[in-house]
Amino acid sequence: MKITSLSTHAAWLSFRNSFPKGAIIGFVPTMGALHRGHLALVQQALSECELVIASIFVNPTQFNHVDDFTAYPLDVENDLAALDSIGCHAAFIPNVATLYPDGPVSENYDLLGLDLVLEGALRPGHFQGVATVVDRLFDLIQPDRAYFGLKDYQQVKVIERLATLRGGKPSIVACPIVREDNGLAMSSRNRRLTKAQTREAAVIFEALRFAEAELSWFPVPSLALKREMRAMIQATGSLRVDAIDFALADSLQPVRDPDRPLDRYSEPIQCFVSAFAGDVRLIDTHCIVPKGPIEG
Ligand code: PAF
Repeated sequence: MKITSLSTHAAWLSFRNSFPKGAIIGFVPTMGALHRGHLALVQQALSECELVIASIFVNPTQFNHVDDFTAYPLDVENDLAALDSIGCHAAFIPNVATLYPDGPVSENYDLLGLDLVLEGALRPGHFQGVATVVDRLFDLIQPDRAYFGLKDYQQVKVIERLATLRGGKPSIVACPIVREDNGLAMSSRNRRLTKAQTREAAVIFEALRFAEAELSWFPVPSLALKREMRAMIQATGSLRVDAIDFALADSLQPVRDPDRPLDRYSEPIQCFVSAFAGDVRLIDTHCIVPKGPIEG
């Protein structure tokens, strides 16, 4: 294996010094259990940077339930092999004390409310936990560019805000969602699906594309569209819709007027879907009104 595994800040600094001064550093933070979506982030980083480091750290402050934290799947050996196979230079695998010397407690950032809506409303404190760990990782690694997947769209918005609070560094690169052949968004959770569930879960992205197509033809209000999407997804029999939300793509302010057509807003509209296949919660998101408002 060529990849260098590092567990301390000092080890990272000495590794970084073995590269030419000024080499562009790309960083991909992860919680491990890597799949093709993560590897696509590393590949994009490798195509744009001279030195690429991925971190593997299961962050305690972003979990709402201790059980979810302790049950989080860890497979560092396989993760390292996967990173190595695509040429990632280094993996940073710190312990809790390195990132939380005073114990695992979140900071309180001014995230402009981006952390309080949508997924954040269901998981109080989650995005403050994410921002805290990413901020500390940025402090230690000092990357030029950091790569995040758009499947976690709200997380990308929170991290962009964090980067602004840090004075614009690193630059945040938001990368497209990587999907299975049938359109299902890649996730570590997909490995818990049966073959039939994997097949049927394709309907989530189909519903999102249906919404986009319909809005390109008709001024559909959110309530009616939500009803149609829900019916489409539930028709599979094996999926149960948890939530379908529409929000302004930049501010993430939820669309609240059920009767106002979704193409009559001043920002693009992002749609968020979560659905259960058995006890596995799947999420996906898509920009369903990519353009500005239609005049008149
Ligand atoms: O997206 C994730 O895996 C995590 O939220 C992140 C960004 C690595 C922070 O722990």
